[in-house]
Amino acid sequence: MSLSDNGFRPGHHDQYQQIRREHGPVVGVELPGGIPAWLVIGYIELHQVTSDPVLFPRDSGLWNQWANIPKGWPLLPMIGRPNPSIISTAGAAQRSHVATVEPALESVDLIRLRQTCERLADRLIDGFCGRGTADLVADFTAPLPMLALAWIFGFADEEEPQFVDMMKMLATSGPDAEAQYANVVRRMEQLLAVKRTKPGADLVSRMLAQPTPFTNAEYARDLLAVITAGYLPTVDWIGNSVRLMRTDERFAAALGGGQHSIEQAMIEVLWEDTPIQIFPGRWAASDTRLGDKDIRAGDMLLLGLAAANTDPHVGRNLTGSVETAGNSAHFAFGYGEYRCPFAAQQIGEIIVRSGIEVLLDRLPDLDLAVPAENLVRRPSPFVRGIASMPVRFTPVRPAGSTPVANAARTSRLWRSAK
Ligand code: HEM
Repeated sequence: MSLSDNGFRPGHHDQYQQIRREHGPVVGVELPGGIPAWLVIGYIELHQVTSDPVLFPRDSGLWNQWANIPKGWPLLPMIGRPNPSIISTAGAAQRSHVATVEPALESVDLIRLRQTCERLADRLIDGFCGRGTADLVADFTAPLPMLALAWIFGFADEEEPQFVDMMKMLATSGPDAEAQYANVVRRMEQLLAVKRTKPGADLVSRMLAQPTPFTNAEYARDLLAVITAGYLPTVDWIGNSVRLMRTDERFAAALGGGQHSIEQAMIEVLWEDTPIQIFPGRWAASDTRLGDKDIRAGDMLLLGLAAANTDPHVGRNLTGSVETAGNSAHFAFGYGEYRCPFAAQQIGEIIVRSGIEVLLDRLPDLDLAVPAENLVRRPSPFVRGIASMPVRFTPVRPAGSTPVANAARTSRLWRSAK
């Protein structure tokens, strides 16, 4: 089965059930260029893989396919050759990066983060609320987490353009991608030099204050790992939750901003429509058997997070759905030693929840301007998000808490970064 053909529609639960019937819980798949990998779609098997970091480390250096990977291979930016960062190391090396990154994430003041997100959300909404229509992705769900991350990194409002510029470089694909990535690493190193001489209450300064000293290049790569791991899933968590609330009548009560429903929608999305559908991955350290398949040392395993969440082996109620409220046994954030750090999960949750609360509070009759089935999804089997979300609402005046010029500037910055 090819993961790159158009017939594979990630997130389509019926499709996963059919694949499960035909291939079992561990599926042999082909990546672009015919590169083989295993897609783990069984809940029990995924638990087994993610709970055993010795047999299945997240160590791409073990991959038995490197000799077959051409320069410019499309998935290279996502899978990545081993490099000294939290996301691309294993074992003791990875733990030393966690020991630097995790306390820094934990030091983010969540009350101030919430206040900042509300202010940023207000500012973005001020930029389009008078129009009565918007593309909710370009105007809101994409810029909000970017600006929140800029604040977490310690960028002042007037320095936002520098951060947006870096995000633009990171999003570069094709032949320029490597050069642009190197540019961003250099920019991060400059930021580190500034924070070394003038530390503040920000993530960068807090990482520098941890006891294990790293080289500037290592700190820079960890910071980029935080951005790349945190940005897109947070964008898509907002978008997928708003889509659910605007298309499912169970959430109609949230028109006035009912917080209970917002939280329920967010949790349901993590189970049923999760932003990271497939995460690459883990690599087998030795020959083994998983489900009904023989795995060879160095084989790559793709974590089928969305498929495992909808595995019929997970307890379902009479209507066939999982009791999602208060149930966090999903795989949306991965699991085990390499899972998304809890502090990062909290940060993501605050950005998403405060963004949706402000949005529905300011524009209570916001609705999709196209039928839900016409929304364009990101064209990737790995992530599940909406690329563009036309919405309409009764036009309202800007809240005026921040100058409208500011909001327009943010919108302009983001559009130029696409
Ligand atoms: C601003 C918010 C976020 C930040 C800063 C963040 C940061 C990170 C970091 C640093 C890692 C690497 C952890 C390690 O290697 O030990 C990671 C992993 C991961 N994150 Fe997040 N994250 C954020 C939001 C999210 C969201 C919203 C989702 C999905 C809904 C998500 C899903 C994941 C997954 C699936 C992994 C890989 C887990 C694995 O390999 O088992 N993250 N994240």
